[in-house]
Amino acid sequence: MFNIPFGPTYSEMLYPDTIPADVREKALRVKDTELDPLNLFNISWKDERGAVRKIVLPKELTGTEANIVVLLGKYFPSGSHKVGPAYATLIEGCVDGEILPGTHTILGPSTGNFGIGVAYICNLMGYRAVVIMPDNMSKERYDRIRKYGAELDLTPGTESDVILTLQRTYELKKNPLNRPLAQFELLPNYRFHRHVTGNSAIEAVKGLGNGRIACFTSAPGSAGTLAAGDQIKQAFPEAKIVALEPYECPTLATGGRGQHRIEGIGDKMCTLIHNILTTDFVALICDEDCVRGLKVIQDGAGVLEELGMPAEQVAKMHDLFGVSGICNILGAIKMADYLRLGPDDNVVTIATDGFDRYPSVMEDLERRNLETEDFVLRRWAKDIFLNKDTKHIFDYRSMVNKEQLFRQKEKDWLPFGYSQKYLDSMRNAEFWEDEYDKVKYYDQKIKEMR
Ligand SMILES: Cc1ncc(COP(=O)(O)O)c(C=O)c1O
Repeated sequence: MFNIPFGPTYSEMLYPDTIPADVREKALRVKDTELDPLNLFNISWKDERGAVRKIVLPKELTGTEANIVVLLGKYFPSGSHKVGPAYATLIEGCVDGEILPGTHTILGPSTGNFGIGVAYICNLMGYRAVVIMPDNMSKERYDRIRKYGAELDLTPGTESDVILTLQRTYELKKNPLNRPLAQFELLPNYRFHRHVTGNSAIEAVKGLGNGRIACFTSAPGSAGTLAAGDQIKQAFPEAKIVALEPYECPTLATGGRGQHRIEGIGDKMCTLIHNILTTDFVALICDEDCVRGLKVIQDGAGVLEELGMPAEQVAKMHDLFGVSGICNILGAIKMADYLRLGPDDNVVTIATDGFDRYPSVMEDLERRNLETEDFVLRRWAKDIFLNKDTKHIFDYRSMVNKEQLFRQKEKDWLPFGYSQKYLDSMRNAEFWEDEYDKVKYYDQKIKEMR
């Protein structure tokens, strides 16, 4: 028997108030001491009082009557919710006896935030970590990974070249002492988001509008976050689950592949853990709109106030979002308009991280656009957020249309050694229910072993 590193169960991440009181109290006390291992117990969407961290966007910004509710990932330890799947994958590996402290090196294939999460978790739990990522992502990401003591193994390209990181991981996996936390393939990512994010989203709309969720939008990188939709659909069967993609890289929508500027999403594939059965729509969002939209939120306070937003609300939004968060918000607004949702309806979406890892992206925007004065921001605010654009929405509700996604998944994963039989089993809802059911098993085991 080896010593399993000490951390929370899935259920404790959803309900941190069920963590033994002394541990919870100590964990809250060390919140600002980033590298204290007790921070494992702060992996949650909830704040000190047990409320889900969220913002309901001002209607003067969204131009839609529906409530757009954004869950805030920046308050997770390490600055994004991707730390959750990183922890879940590592702890399941420990419970299964597959990953041994002091023996194995952890590999984290990523475009950034998952890599940051892996580096952070490995620091807290005492593992050597190697993060494999493209060499052209935002500078802030590499700085954080180094700060947490992980090594970097860089592959050429940007966001859309993530397949190269998978190929590199596949090579490194041949060393029996390496253990990949393969976010695109392994189901702890699904379990974390279905259980922890999905149920937190359901709690987040209590008392708001009709208290239900009409639509959930999430731009997949690994499609882990999208799994929250499976839980949302169980609670609210009418909910529409929408995967967002960059207009410049519409792989799920049309099989297209291109470079784009939305870090963390649009990875040119249908990931193995993507539950195609519950994806109702795929909608496309322009990458430059996301970068400009972020600029408006960060630097356009005066402009937003002119649009009628109270100064206090404008100030509240500052620093809460990254580029993909704006993509998710634009997708939420687009779908609210497309579905003709009203003031009783709630659309939930996610801000994976906050602004802290994007100043360099804003500097790049300023270099590319000679003018970013208020008159430009005013036009951007109107054109990007208030444009009522319902174009480029692809309906995947019928099984006939879903075939395209199943075929994409086969094209992406048969080459990595997954069998047709395994991929076919994912066409059955039971596959996903069985995988979700394992939450109980792992929770029990984590409690026994720690
Ligand atoms: C900034 C950012 N946004 C969105 C995502 C996508 O989340 P998921 O991998 O759960 O689909 C990621 C994933 O790394 C990310 O880093």
